[in-house]
Amino acid sequence: MFAFSIRKDEEPYVKEWAKGHPEIEVGYTDELLSPKTAKYAEGADGVVVYQQLSYTAETLQALADQGITKMSLRNVGVDNVDLDKAKELGFEITNVPVYSPNAIAEHAAIQTARILRQTKVLDEKIENGDLRWAPTIGREVRDQTVGVIGTGHIGRVYMQIMEGFGAKVIAFDPYENAELKAKGYYVNTLDELYAQSDVISLHVPATKENTHMINSSSIAKMKDDVVLVNCSRGALVDTDAVIKALDRGKVAGFVMDTYEDEVGIFNADWRNKTFPDKRLEDLIHRSNVLVTPHTAFYTTHAVRNMVLKAFDNNCELIHGKPADTPVKID
Ligand SMILES: NC(=O)c1ccc[n+]([C@@H]2O[C@H](COP(=O)([O-])OP(=O)(O)OC[C@H]3O[C@@H](n4cnc5c(N)ncnc54)[C@H](O)[C@@H]3O)[C@@H](O)[C@H]2O)c1
Repeated sequence: MFAFSIRKDEEPYVKEWAKGHPEIEVGYTDELLSPKTAKYAEGADGVVVYQQLSYTAETLQALADQGITKMSLRNVGVDNVDLDKAKELGFEITNVPVYSPNAIAEHAAIQTARILRQTKVLDEKIENGDLRWAPTIGREVRDQTVGVIGTGHIGRVYMQIMEGFGAKVIAFDPYENAELKAKGYYVNTLDELYAQSDVISLHVPATKENTHMINSSSIAKMKDDVVLVNCSRGALVDTDAVIKALDRGKVAGFVMDTYEDEVGIFNADWRNKTFPDKRLEDLIHRSNVLVTPHTAFYTTHAVRNMVLKAFDNNCELIHGKPADTPVKID
């Protein structure tokens, strides 16, 4: 098996997996998979991959030319894979849909609490030698009604953490979880959630229907001083609408781990370079906005699971067994 774009933080887990599977020869590189680098995998039965760079028709062809058609992604998303070409070439692909819901839920919860306690303002003040309290007063989590949109793997953990802080938690999901329903968490409509929540956290996929679900008209239905949390997907939020609402003071705080134009900007070093996105630059510098560059998932626990699970999947594929989490290609 051969793995591409293995980062330093993934390397120990590749070694851990290889140690547990002495019968398998494991090779890897830190380089991305491309038509040029595909040859590194020569002789391998399968490849393990994770990158933002597209898996183009040429890249897939380069693998297939070497007889490699078993590819295991270390992440969830397959939107950068040319699935038509993959189908044509007879590829079998797997992904890792769930690697650590807690990583993302914890991050969302931490950032929610930070916004409520104005820690960004406080940190800046302290760094500048201003040790006065006022006017940087916090809101306690237990006084908030926290509205959770989407009660899947991540939303459910976020609910538990916010309840641990003592918040009143309500939720909306068109597919209600029986256990949560029995405990009475659900409101019947998104509008009810908007009307009742002091904090609103998104934990839904970026489907066509959900694109810009947070927009001027949904914001108009929310309470004044609402805090918005998006650790899901950038496309869910109409960023311009949120900026307007922040400017008006309608939205008190905005947590964003994802951004609709993040591709090519996040996970890059912009020091000593012209920052490429004025709107994002403005958000980063606001005291009531917490931007993180899609790092909610980025924990040792999650990265280990992503690596081990992808190698397990690829191992199943090369042994002709059904993998746990195959990607549907048709
Ligand atoms: N920031 C990160 O690092 C990071 C990492 C992993 C996942 N994510 C994102 O987190 C989000 C949630 O992931 P998950 O694993 O919990 O997904 P999941 O599939 O387990 O749960 C999603 C839930 O959203 C519900 N849903 C869909 N549309 C809805 C709507 N309009 N209103 C209310 N509920 C709706 C679904 O019924 C489902 O229960 C996804 O967008 C995912 O891409 C972010």
